[in-house]
Amino acid sequence: MTETFVAKAGSLADGDRLVVAVGKKEIGVFRHRGKYHAYSNYCLHSGGPACEGLIIAKVTEQILPDKTSAGLFFSDDETHFVCPWHGYEYNIETGACAGDPKQKLRSFPVIEKDGAIYVVT
Ligand code: FES
Repeated sequence: MTETFVAKAGSLADGDRLVVAVGKKEIGVFRHRGKYHAYSNYCLHSGGPACEGLIIAKVTEQILPDKTSAGLFFSDDETHFVCPWHGYEYNIETGACAGDPKQKLRSFPVIEKDGAIYVVT
């Protein structure tokens, strides 16, 4: 196992993200609600920089009994990051693709020790 330095402990605020190079790989490291999450920066669609796009609450549409729309709403519970190439969305806590949750970005452990944050590959 290899531990790659990401940042000094405490330097990433909630909502921050960094992309680090680990050999020939790129890994996106997110801090979200006090926890770290790390994923391969290669989008499942076409290899775009999956971790480098917009971070946004999941958007859902509420459908009424008469099948009309009550509008679009931001989720309070689920946050996504959006691949900037064509818009594939991924759950920031699981790496699951929003369009097909069975597909997930490869994830990596993140540890904090000796005043620093490391991603483990
Ligand atoms: S490469 Fe990411 S959405 Fe197409």
